[in-house]
Amino acid sequence: MRAVLCRQWGTPDTLTLEDIPSPQTGADEVLIDVKACALSFPDVLTIQGKYQIKPAFPFSPGVEVAGIIKAVGSGIGGNAGFKPGDRVFGRVANGCADEVIAKPDFLWQLPPAVGFEVGAGFAMNYGTSYYALKVRGQLKAGETLLVLGASGGVGLAAVELGKMLGARVIACASTTEKLEVCKRAGADDTINYETENLREAIKRLTQDRGVDVVYDPVGDKFADPAVRGLAWGGRYLVVGFAAGEIPKVALNLPLLKGGAIVGVWWGGLIKNDPAQARRLTQELVNLIADGRLKPLISATYPLAQTGDALADLMARKVTGKIVVVTGDA
Ligand SMILES: NC(=O)c1ccc[n+]([C@@H]2O[C@H](COP(=O)([O-])OP(=O)(O)OC[C@H]3O[C@@H](n4cnc5c(N)ncnc54)[C@H](OP(=O)(O)O)[C@@H]3O)[C@@H](O)[C@H]2O)c1
Repeated sequence: MRAVLCRQWGTPDTLTLEDIPSPQTGADEVLIDVKACALSFPDVLTIQGKYQIKPAFPFSPGVEVAGIIKAVGSGIGGNAGFKPGDRVFGRVANGCADEVIAKPDFLWQLPPAVGFEVGAGFAMNYGTSYYALKVRGQLKAGETLLVLGASGGVGLAAVELGKMLGARVIACASTTEKLEVCKRAGADDTINYETENLREAIKRLTQDRGVDVVYDPVGDKFADPAVRGLAWGGRYLVVGFAAGEIPKVALNLPLLKGGAIVGVWWGGLIKNDPAQARRLTQELVNLIADGRLKPLISATYPLAQTGDALADLMARKVTGKIVVVTGDA
């Protein structure tokens, strides 16, 4: 089978497409014929050795796939509800390959109405943003939500989910085209945070009151004005640092605002409270199957162009989610 391999820390152009033996299915595992593998910013960080998880070499990027079960281990039987031929999606390691091994504990049946590309691409983004807004941020209907990096993977999911939860959503991005994508996903107002003064724009759009929740997957220079833009009792959700620099925040700011700085890590939730992660994922599956959420897959790439896909993420060229397909998705 083909697999995209990372043999040393490096940029996307150092990845190689190689023919390797199919993985062996253990007793408590299933083998998936991969149709689509989604990519995210953490994959960009992982291949460079900059992510909090550092896989052993060689590994393939991509931790989210959708496909068809090819084989099940002897311990799976019918008990786990999986059998060859099932359309599934789930969290794996080494996803950018023709075949991948998965454990049944974070594997799901893909509803018939949901295609492989959406199936591969929604769980991390929507899981992160749903957990962030609903659980960590306690976002309520009628509150105002400010989303940084709002046209990106987790950001656009936060825009859509924020609207679904009844909030007024202010989306921030770096270009007019990206802000248009946010509006189509439901954003009420937009700020170009590269050309406008973020602090002043927040004041203008909230009549000096500030926002109730900030969703921040970008960090760097935007964090300080966004924390200062919180309303009394506001919550600042720390999601990621796509712009590179991990910001330092003066602790007098949450004090003065009676506010909270709240960390969000979806992978950490899966590890530490898998039951809650599964509950939230099931809710999202239902919302997508019912058409209440419409994840944007903005581009697909053949497996051989996985490096180009990751380079586009690095170059800030991506909106919504991007997906690598193995050929017959
Ligand atoms: N906490 C969690 O559980 C969790 C889960 C998934 C992802 N994350 C983190 O969230 C962040 C975003 O991930 P994602 O997959 O949504 O990425 P993405 O699709 O690439 O979106 C990131 C956004 O950040 C903005 N950005 C600003 N400066 C950037 C720079 N120098 N390089 C790249 N993007 C820049 C871009 O929007 P503009 O051009 O409009 O500024 C871009 O749309 C990453 O740091 C990732 O590690 C965290």
